[in-house]
Amino acid sequence: MPLEKKRPVCASKAKLEFLANMRHKLRTPLNSIIGFSELMKQRVAGELNEKQEHYLDNILANSMQLRDLINDVFDLIRIETENMELNIEPFSVPLAIEENIALFKDKAAKRNIILKKELDPQLELIDADQNKFRQVLFNLLDNAVKFSKDEGGTVTITTRKLEDTAQFSISDTGIGIRENDMGKLFKTFEQLDMGITKEYDGTGLGLVISKYLVEMHGGKIMAESKFKEGSTFTFLLPLQQRKGIK
Ligand SMILES: Nc1ncnc2c1ncn2[C@@H]1O[C@H](COP(=O)(O)OP(=O)(O)OP(=O)(O)O)[C@@H](O)[C@H]1O
Ligand SMILES: [Mg+2]
Repeated sequence: MPLEKKRPVCASKAKLEFLANMRHKLRTPLNSIIGFSELMKQRVAGELNEKQEHYLDNILANSMQLRDLINDVFDLIRIETENMELNIEPFSVPLAIEENIALFKDKAAKRNIILKKELDPQLELIDADQNKFRQVLFNLLDNAVKFSKDEGGTVTITTRKLEDTAQFSISDTGIGIRENDMGKLFKTFEQLDMGITKEYDGTGLGLVISKYLVEMHGGKIMAESKFKEGSTFTFLLPLQQRKGIK
């Protein structure tokens, strides 16, 4: 199936240098705040009373959230402005999936979530940028686990080899998405109003970044969901990259 490739807009060299510099200038003090807070939490500077520990936890949680936001925003800028090269190489799909699932084992177990995989034995190797593939899978698994119900559930990764395309689906039995909100997915900083007091971590960039990464490969990403029942995010990648196209 012929899929259109997304082309980034080019920015001048000076702008890119400015952005790289800015990223560094934002991250350096933040890493220092995180580092020193961690040291204090480890009692390197002496004992802490309950209130001090509570304040320190707040400093740490908020600075880590800020660090994630900075990383996501600069990822997005990089994707949109740089002529980002894909590092295409053949790699094993089952192995990349297994290693990605392993990153969520603890989190899933703590939340009573069963992680399942249903892999098509016909789909072994794919020609793609392995790091970007892993990043997309990570974002989708992170969402599936995060938006599972409090009582737990199941998250399933399914692969299928279609003619010249690989299909990957990540399904959850979580909180689901209202029909009206489906159009807001894949939009920058869009976090859906859950209509409840529960707050979820995140900056609303994971899906936008995933969409870019998939489209850079000439692929496609889509979502289906039933409110209160669960969601399935599916992405398609060509099995082989056509030569000469970035
Ligand atoms: N599996 C899912 N089930 C229910 N809602 C989802 C699911 N995946 C995404 N959403 C909704 O789409 C929004 C955007 O998702 P996205 O991954 O872009 O952002 P995020 O997870 O909130 O933050 P980030 O990924 O940047 O940490 C989420 O905030 C949530 O409202
Ligand atoms: Mg996310």
